[in-house]
Amino acid sequence: MTIDLGDHRKIMTDTIATTASSVATRRFPADFLFGAATAAYQIEGASHEDGRTDSIWDAFSRVPGAVINADNGDVACDHYHRYRDDVALMKQLGLQTYRFSTSWARVRPDGGPVNPHGIDFYSRLVDELLGAGIKPWLTLYHWDLPQALEEQGGWTNRDTAFRFRDYALDMHEALGDRVDVWTTLNEPWCSSFLSYTAGAHAPGRQDVAAGLAAGHHLLLAHGLAVQALRERDPGLELGITLNLTVAKPVDPASPGDVDAARRIDGQFNRFFLDPIFRGEYADDLRADVGHLGLDDVVLDGDLAVISTPIDALGVNYYHGESVSDRPAEHPLLGSAPTDRPTRSPYPAADGVFNHPQNLPLTAMDWEVQPDGLRELLVRVHEEYAASAGVRLYVTENGAAYDDRVAADGGVHDGERTEFLESHLGAILDAVGEGVPVHGYFYWSVMDNFEWAWGYDKRFGLVRVDYETQERTVKDSGLAYAAIIRERALPA
Ligand code: NOJ
Repeated sequence: MTIDLGDHRKIMTDTIATTASSVATRRFPADFLFGAATAAYQIEGASHEDGRTDSIWDAFSRVPGAVINADNGDVACDHYHRYRDDVALMKQLGLQTYRFSTSWARVRPDGGPVNPHGIDFYSRLVDELLGAGIKPWLTLYHWDLPQALEEQGGWTNRDTAFRFRDYALDMHEALGDRVDVWTTLNEPWCSSFLSYTAGAHAPGRQDVAAGLAAGHHLLLAHGLAVQALRERDPGLELGITLNLTVAKPVDPASPGDVDAARRIDGQFNRFFLDPIFRGEYADDLRADVGHLGLDDVVLDGDLAVISTPIDALGVNYYHGESVSDRPAEHPLLGSAPTDRPTRSPYPAADGVFNHPQNLPLTAMDWEVQPDGLRELLVRVHEEYAASAGVRLYVTENGAAYDDRVAADGGVHDGERTEFLESHLGAILDAVGEGVPVHGYFYWSVMDNFEWAWGYDKRFGLVRVDYETQERTVKDSGLAYAAIIRERALPA
């Protein structure tokens, strides 16, 4: 049987039922939330409609060579106009929660006064989600700073942190009566080091001190927003989402490799975890990068603000790293989407090399390492979350593959289903080791604008045909629907 949702979207319920019948034992905790995620610039389109003005991604997409095929988010998945259908699709998949972000440039164009049309879009989206029985999970910043604020220094300007707090309060004023879970930032590592040091993401700057200043000011913005939101509404579940990794020395007996792993861990994980959970930057990190600009931007009192208690930590995990101070014999190719030169995002890790472990690769050339997720969750729980009483969620995990539409009209993406199941299995392993993981969000609900990779890389559970905006649920979407229904992994 087929449910026709109108337009072009069909879900084969027979397939869902068949897949479900093979589901057996590995069960998820009763309160475990199953969801999926997106971000405003990656799906909304309507980039200059109803008062929205440029974000740094609109501007960056116009830089020659910055984005593959010169793609941009002008139309994207046209979700701004199709959100009702998209929510219906999420409901069909059985999602319990949906993680989305709000666009600062839509809500406060040019960083200026509130735009009621922008607010209204998110208000309608939230109502639609609640009507479908889906819990809205709101992220305030998923990389799309208003370009006008970038022109005043962007995240290198301390004042941007205070502007972010004001924007957070505006959003709460509009949606606080209906949204309980608020995430301040998504992956601040990307919006600082990848964006201001490496130049691979918007705004495309390549300046070591700028990356460090951006990283610190993003953390400050997080702390200021948590303080302000908590004061307004003590009942909210407040948190942040970090992209964390497991950095391992290629040769644990080599001091050079061990130090390479320490430096990657420092700048990827601990740069964010330590200030948030411990109110400090670790001594070794400060010794590595303090003199490169970090010490100049950390002012008295900042770390106390940044370490304001939170309720939830979102972990985004895609793969781990095996690192060395020696170059790999066969390095992975394809780590930069275009020929535009970028630099290393790690000022303290020049001379650190990633060594492929001969594991299966996704279309991003990322190695598939599900057990890294288990290891990461155990570590974050033991070293940070447990003592702080913070709830852990996996707020992103997913894979791009070169999907094809088959002759029967379906997308038979078995590799993605395997990826999904193996990572959910890793979460169950972590739970078995005593780590309370409270939920999982697959990235992404649908194919979308994959930043500097444009529309080339597809991560969705749902395929988007960008010519027609037709949505097709992939086999992985059907498999996820079955897992959610059974609350268990197939045997
Ligand atoms: C991290 C980001 O949060 C998301 O925007 C991106 O598309 C995925 N990972 C995949 O790269």
